[in-house]
Amino acid sequence: MAMAMPTDLLGRGLRDLRISVTDRCNFRCRYCMPVEVFGAGHAFMPREELLTYEEIVRLVRLLIPLGVEKIRLTGGEPLLRRGLDDLVAMLAAVDGVKDLAITTNGVLLAHHAEALALAGLDRVTVSLDAMDPEIFARMNGVGAKVERVIAGINCAKTFGLRVKVNAVIQRGVNEGEILPLARWARTAGVDLRFIEYMDVGETNGWKLTEVVAGDEILAILAREFALVPRDPAYRGEVAVHWRHTDGGAGEIGLIRSVTRPFCRDCQRLRLSADGKIFTCLFAAHGHDLRGLLRGGMSESSIRDSVAAIWMTRSDRYSEERGLTQDRSKAEMSYLGG
Ligand code: GTP
Ligand code: 5AD
Ligand code: SF4
Ligand code: SF4
Repeated sequence: MAMAMPTDLLGRGLRDLRISVTDRCNFRCRYCMPVEVFGAGHAFMPREELLTYEEIVRLVRLLIPLGVEKIRLTGGEPLLRRGLDDLVAMLAAVDGVKDLAITTNGVLLAHHAEALALAGLDRVTVSLDAMDPEIFARMNGVGAKVERVIAGINCAKTFGLRVKVNAVIQRGVNEGEILPLARWARTAGVDLRFIEYMDVGETNGWKLTEVVAGDEILAILAREFALVPRDPAYRGEVAVHWRHTDGGAGEIGLIRSVTRPFCRDCQRLRLSADGKIFTCLFAAHGHDLRGLLRGGMSESSIRDSVAAIWMTRSDRYSEERGLTQDRSKAEMSYLGG
């Protein structure tokens, strides 16, 4: 008999699993991995700490009966992990995986798009915060070029992958890029989502004054584009979307974690590269599954442990932001965006 799917203390099911495959990245975005902290001396996870692809797939298989149907591979930069297309192929073959996506900075995407598509990947979400070469280089911290990211996006589309683009907007840094990004997205026909700068982790020196609220982003867009809201595509969709009224290509979304938190429908579980599960992006601690796997615990017992963790979950950090102070938080590059 199929086991009952767990719901948490706020009645939320477990649908979406975000798997970080590495804590390394070839970018040093200031809002995520500032170079002062993640410089040459930073110790990343040693290889043996990482879950192997076989271990990841075992975990996914055992979590499917709990309700998981959507998988996103993240990092760090997931394309830095060797043979990622092998993992994609292994996951695409798992019964019950209905949607398989990756989140990437796009710089290596042109090299990998074909293999990923052939392996059975459905979708790619590419981060691109500016069209202006200098602003982009400053934001990514390593001088990476916009054209390489765009080449990656085009390549992914050529091989039939569905592409979305995410742009984090930070006041004083790239709010002037909102319109150029939207113009490009409309011409390129890609879905573009603007993300409010979040207080994730402890190293980016986040300040509320640097958040450009979604309403302000929308007002900037309205100077040039006529947009109408569209209904959510599914329950718990993180972004709220608008369409061009003239039928122009591409949709525009806002991810307003700061000004309009969406915890109420949050069905996401995160798995760090070293095998810990986190029930919230802002959680300080994870629960170790690698030890259970390597210690020989049976798959059904591991599943029961995860179900028990889910059933006691009450996270809603974004809705409580400002009420809770000085909480310790894990870094996004470690636990996955
Ligand atoms: P689709 O499946 O394409 O709708 O994507 P998604 O909703 O999984 O969004 P995506 O992975 O592209 O997430 C976009 C960004 O939204 C992330 O990189 C985070 O910055 C933010 N985000 C995603 N999930 C959460 C979450 O659970 N909490 C908060 N606060 N932010 C989130
Ligand atoms: N606030 C908002 N978004 C962030 N991302 C990384 N750090 C932050 C932050 N502090 C975004 C990246 C990428 C996704 C994985 O998360 O730009 O699109
Ligand atoms: Fe790397 Fe993405 Fe973090 Fe930028 S936001 S440093 S690309 S993991
Ligand atoms: Fe989910 Fe935590 Fe994000 Fe709220 S803050 S949406 S509970 S991950």
